[in-house]
Amino acid sequence: MTHSADRASAAGHGLAHQDILSVNQFNTDMLGAIFALTDEMRSTVRASGGCDLLRHHVLTCLFYEPSTRTSASFIAAMERLGGSVIPITQGVQYSSVAKGESLPDTIRTVEQYSDAIVLRHPEVGSARVAAEAASKPVINAGDGAGEHPTQALLDLYTIHNELGTLDGLHIAMVGDLRFGRTVHSLTRLLLQYDVKLTFVSPEILRLPLDLMNAVRDAGLPVRETYSVADVIGDVDVLYVTRVQKERFTDLAQYDEAKGFYNITPDLMRDAKSRMVVMHPLPRVGEISDAVDTDPRAAYFRQMENGMFIRMALLAAVLGKA
Ligand code: NCD
Repeated sequence: MTHSADRASAAGHGLAHQDILSVNQFNTDMLGAIFALTDEMRSTVRASGGCDLLRHHVLTCLFYEPSTRTSASFIAAMERLGGSVIPITQGVQYSSVAKGESLPDTIRTVEQYSDAIVLRHPEVGSARVAAEAASKPVINAGDGAGEHPTQALLDLYTIHNELGTLDGLHIAMVGDLRFGRTVHSLTRLLLQYDVKLTFVSPEILRLPLDLMNAVRDAGLPVRETYSVADVIGDVDVLYVTRVQKERFTDLAQYDEAKGFYNITPDLMRDAKSRMVVMHPLPRVGEISDAVDTDPRAAYFRQMENGMFIRMALLAAVLGKA
């Protein structure tokens, strides 16, 4: 399917039979509808573990890059809705991809057996290529350093859930702002809200210029710094990320960039009593384990929200909610 943000209706989620390729396809009305549906999914799971909304529906999860949370939460989401999954998640190397099959051909194959496709792939733009080849909805679960729209939706949902609003918040993104696709998607989504943004990174991991220009064009207050200590006392959300080792062509540069940040209980002493620390995970040293018991550490709750959001998105794109 080709995406059709423009055809999506202004009221409601507008996602029935649509692809999810980029956060640019969402407006605040759609986000409100998706979050309401996500609340319903949460209640259903809490009350009875799941339902039969997607019975006899099949999802293909096609992952050309490693994944734990995204693949597991999509699989759990589909199964809690009564559907089933073809998981090509750990073993792409054992599929016909290893024989040299092209992405469009693999997509045209799996869509014969399934009603929607979740794709993670190392190349920017791959989800769009897949969507053009497919007649079923394609959901982008990360295209290289490009976007990760479903993660951004769960991040936004988590912020709203934890702090009760988005407007007026000071949100700091920390770490690999250059290659971190979750940062790219979340930043673009936040442009629709009245937030203040601070980007915290070493020089070589700064936010890409086009994205920084988009933030400026949106008229949001924004600044850059390399120091977490500079902002910790003022932020409502500290969104921490891992340095994306797999995107570096020069590992010496990675070695220089890694290990720059470590959020510790000591640092948290300077933070507001009502704020949240988030991370898309996996973490590789950016947040000390000793922070986990701090009630402001929201990254485990954030992960669970991923399943509820993906239940809502699957029900929506399959035209069942
Ligand atoms: C993120 C990703 O894959 O971009 N992980 C995830 O989906 N939760 C972040 C990362 O790998 O650092």
